[in-house]
Amino acid sequence: MKIEARSLSFAVRGKTLLQDVSLSVQPGETLALVGPNGSGKSTLMRLLSGIAKPSQGQVLLADKPLAQLTRRDIAQRIAIVEQQADTAERITARSVVELGRTPWLSALKPWSGEDTALVDKALSTVEMESFDSREWSTLSGGERQRLHIARALAQRPGLLLLDEPTNHLDIHHQLSILNCIRNLKVTTVVALHDLNQALTCDKVAVLSHGRLVAFGEPGQALAPETVSDIFGIKARWVRDAEGTAPFLSFQLA
Ligand SMILES: Nc1ncnc2c1ncn2[C@@H]1O[C@H](COP(=O)(O)OP(=O)(O)OP(=O)(O)O)[C@@H](O)[C@H]1O
Ligand SMILES: [Mg+2]
Repeated sequence: MKIEARSLSFAVRGKTLLQDVSLSVQPGETLALVGPNGSGKSTLMRLLSGIAKPSQGQVLLADKPLAQLTRRDIAQRIAIVEQQADTAERITARSVVELGRTPWLSALKPWSGEDTALVDKALSTVEMESFDSREWSTLSGGERQRLHIARALAQRPGLLLLDEPTNHLDIHHQLSILNCIRNLKVTTVVALHDLNQALTCDKVAVLSHGRLVAFGEPGQALAPETVSDIFGIKARWVRDAEGTAPFLSFQLA
């Protein structure tokens, strides 16, 4: 599902948090959203998800303004894992993932074997099958994060929004979640702080002080000059001895 932001601005109490952001993500592509703390990544995610309404501009999902879709339409099409996602304590790991099926259930379409199969698949994608009946309060930060991602996957959305999904994850699970996201045929926007991980996505959008300063092919959007400038560091391309694709190396300016 294509997602497009057209001249999006967002202000609260006279303070502009996002200004004139335009970008689009083609069906099946993964867009990495990067930028310093407070640059507006989470704000943009919330606008793209319909949780917050833009002060100016509009969001189009599959060429239709988000403002014209019903809550249920949006819930079936867009899944979001927020940066500080949390869940009621007295619930099992599996029931958190089952929540992802809620937008698809109705009196005419009660829970079925198909829903169970989608939950099973999502749990196995994040390697959490064995945690099935564990209570939420007993899970580690990374385990909770993986279940939030599984909940979003079980929803089978047309657009997946992940705000720092690798937060709390060890390096194995960071790489495995990113790999899974890139291989999904679902359009995905993912906020990341690891710029080398962003380089492996289809497109990159760079935010600074609420403005889009670069958008496009990863190697171009993450040019060392841009990265150095907005993060106040010194970045450069390096290659390892095996001559793999170049990656970014950083030091304080
Ligand atoms: N309700 C609000 N009132 C005032 N300022 C806000 C409000 N919500 C967010 N902000 C400010 O807007 C800016 C952008 O916040 P946002 O959460 O989008 O940043 P971010 O890029 O996601 O940062 P991080 O990397 O730390 O997650 C921040 O300076 C934040 O303090
Ligand atoms: Mg954020």
